[in-house]
Amino acid sequence: MTVELKEGVYWVGVVDWNIKQFHGHEYSTHRGTTYNAYLIIDEKIALVDTVWGPYSQEMIKNIEKIIDVKKIDYVIANHAEVDHSGGLPELMKLIPNATVVVSEKGRESIPKHYHEDWNFKVVKTGDSISLGKNSLVFVAAPMLHWPDSMFTYLTGKNILMPNDAFGMHFASSSRFNDEVDEIEVYQEAIKFYANILTPFSDLVIRKIDEFKKLNIPVDIIAPSHGIIWRKDPLQIVNKYYEWAQGKNDGSVVIIYDTMWKATEKMGEAIAQGLEKEGVKYKFFNMAVCDRNDVLTEVFKTKGIIIGSPALNSGLLPTIKPILEDLKGLKFKNKVGAAFGSYGWSGENVKHIEETLEKAKIKVLQEGIKFKWQPSKEELDKCVEFGRQFAQKMKAA
Ligand code: FEO
Repeated sequence: MTVELKEGVYWVGVVDWNIKQFHGHEYSTHRGTTYNAYLIIDEKIALVDTVWGPYSQEMIKNIEKIIDVKKIDYVIANHAEVDHSGGLPELMKLIPNATVVVSEKGRESIPKHYHEDWNFKVVKTGDSISLGKNSLVFVAAPMLHWPDSMFTYLTGKNILMPNDAFGMHFASSSRFNDEVDEIEVYQEAIKFYANILTPFSDLVIRKIDEFKKLNIPVDIIAPSHGIIWRKDPLQIVNKYYEWAQGKNDGSVVIIYDTMWKATEKMGEAIAQGLEKEGVKYKFFNMAVCDRNDVLTEVFKTKGIIIGSPALNSGLLPTIKPILEDLKGLKFKNKVGAAFGSYGWSGENVKHIEETLEKAKIKVLQEGIKFKWQPSKEELDKCVEFGRQFAQKMKAA
């Protein structure tokens, strides 16, 4: 399948309906994904990005539906990660003399992935390559998503190809945002931002400010995953700007696991306390919930209350991965607290609080823990704990 974005500009990528785990098993892709590659026909021929390696031949067949692949002059590698550069080895066997256009960091990382000495051309922000009628202009975009990342803009057609930025893992038989369910698209876009781009929010703000100052027309934003923004394309740029500010909806997530329901009962009582103060909350048992979906909810909320029973002086293993994520993702403007049941020494609450502090999540109050199963009086204290958290959170 190929799709024309504008005259002479084609999507020649691949839809991967069945990938449900991305980055190894780090990121859940319930709705699959696409690897978007764009073919530009001018006096010179350019391909912007490729696809993940196993799909190289499918991409090459798509290109062949439009032109002889050997006519490609330039291959733009906006980003070295293998879901976009993975098609290079198969492609470059067919066009060994083509120029591979990379950022300065891409010049370091792409050869380290493929150990091939292709004809590289390094570009930096503001550099351009004329294709004939129109030109490609490059903008470095470090950390969106890797240090090597860059955006490519096609003059004349006003198409921005920003690679991972503004994308989402979303497989579809349609290519454009005006052809699909907007709610589903935004669910995946915010998940992508929350789980991948959050730590780089300050860079996102700076990059968008820089881009707006260029005052260039943008008719289409064509990222490397998911749908292409054709209807009101700048809507996703404005959303990124909003997401990067770290605003929240004032609600709370309670994240926990439980062995014999004692910690769960405590969590339910804490939730009652939140409710009494009119604070909305969501409740996630990490033994059965998807980590990336929960992190997306964390991204939207102000409060994070985490519970685990003690296990071997530590925490249940189901809780540990999301604590690692919180440390790495560095969500802005969050507050937190800890709770849990214990049997002997009870270091569980202290471990959670230490993680919250490392994640720069302000601990609003001393955690609450009770031995074995909580009594009626202890559960009342958990309700009060929830109330106090809600009051402090509103004041924070
Ligand atoms: Fe879709 Fe950072 O690769």
